[in-house]
Amino acid sequence: ALIPLRVLLDHAAENNYGVAAFNVNNMEQIQSIMEAADETDSPVIIQASRGARAYSQDRYLVGLMQAAVELYPHIPVVMHQDHGNSPETCFSAIRNNFTSVMMDGSLKEDGKTPADFEYNAEVTRKVVDVAHAFGVSVEGELGCLGSLETGQGEKEDGHGFEGTLSKEELLTDPDEAERFVELTKVDALAIAIGTSHGAYKFTRKPDGAILAMEQVKAIHKRLPNTHLVMHGSSSVPQDLQDIVNKFGGDIKQTWGVPVEEIQEGIKHGVRKINVDTDNRLAITGAIRQALMEKPGEFDPRYYLKPARAAMKEVCKQRMTQFGQAGQA
Ligand code: G3H
Ligand code: 13P
Ligand code: NA
Ligand code: ZN
Repeated sequence: ALIPLRVLLDHAAENNYGVAAFNVNNMEQIQSIMEAADETDSPVIIQASRGARAYSQDRYLVGLMQAAVELYPHIPVVMHQDHGNSPETCFSAIRNNFTSVMMDGSLKEDGKTPADFEYNAEVTRKVVDVAHAFGVSVEGELGCLGSLETGQGEKEDGHGFEGTLSKEELLTDPDEAERFVELTKVDALAIAIGTSHGAYKFTRKPDGAILAMEQVKAIHKRLPNTHLVMHGSSSVPQDLQDIVNKFGGDIKQTWGVPVEEIQEGIKHGVRKINVDTDNRLAITGAIRQALMEKPGEFDPRYYLKPARAAMKEVCKQRMTQFGQAGQA
């Protein structure tokens, strides 16, 4: 059944688990998530970025998500807009039957310029007013996703702010978080703790200096009833990097967010964990391997089947590790 984010995260909070939010662009990714959910008895959050909605067109992507809901009536499903950059993006998601939207007012509409607190609170509040009238949940974001090692937002995939920010400018401030939630009434709050989108998060296995898990605890203390969201939370597993590289890829050695750190976050109010990159790596590795192994094959099903299976494995692992398995 299709449910709002709030309902799922309230259940997750009561039962001390986290829920992976997986990004999708196509049929195979949606099938991977649903098969993983079915096999592990997990509720799911399926999310589409603006780029995903443009790539697949709303009619196709929403149709596929609705098919997933119909084919698995026993699985609770949240349809979430990831990183809405304006109220209009969120409103168009609501018109398309999404049950949850993220209004990311941490950056201006261009997605490049860090926004001030007042702008962020105002656009987010505007979305909450409309969304709640339709029974749709809202995720806000305070602080800027970016590296504590370099002070930069990620660039290679076109996401993140331009320029350099200090540690204080990047990280979510607990006082501001309290004020933000009070003003906006968001259902969930994405916080910045030194993670960034994409594969190149950390140049070494992260410690407290570059991944500020202490910030999660400080914010949770101030906002014990607010569901916290971790973005940029792919773990970028070594084995997935290795498969891509073994079959002709060129991923430079990199580190993601260790699963143990996410599990620590889940003990301190983290309820939604965004994962895209790990699935991208799994899909790409499987396709590279299949094509290298049988260069004469050209039926897309030949390489899309192992790609779908590889993403399903990642989803099952995260569902189990975050504790959502068995909670459907
Ligand atoms: O926001 C980051 C997600 O990984 C989605 O990425 O905007 O390339 O679809 P995208
Ligand atoms: P990753 O790039 O770490 O998978 O993060 C995805 C994300 O935060 C989507 O909003
Ligand atoms: Na999101
Ligand atoms: Zn994100």
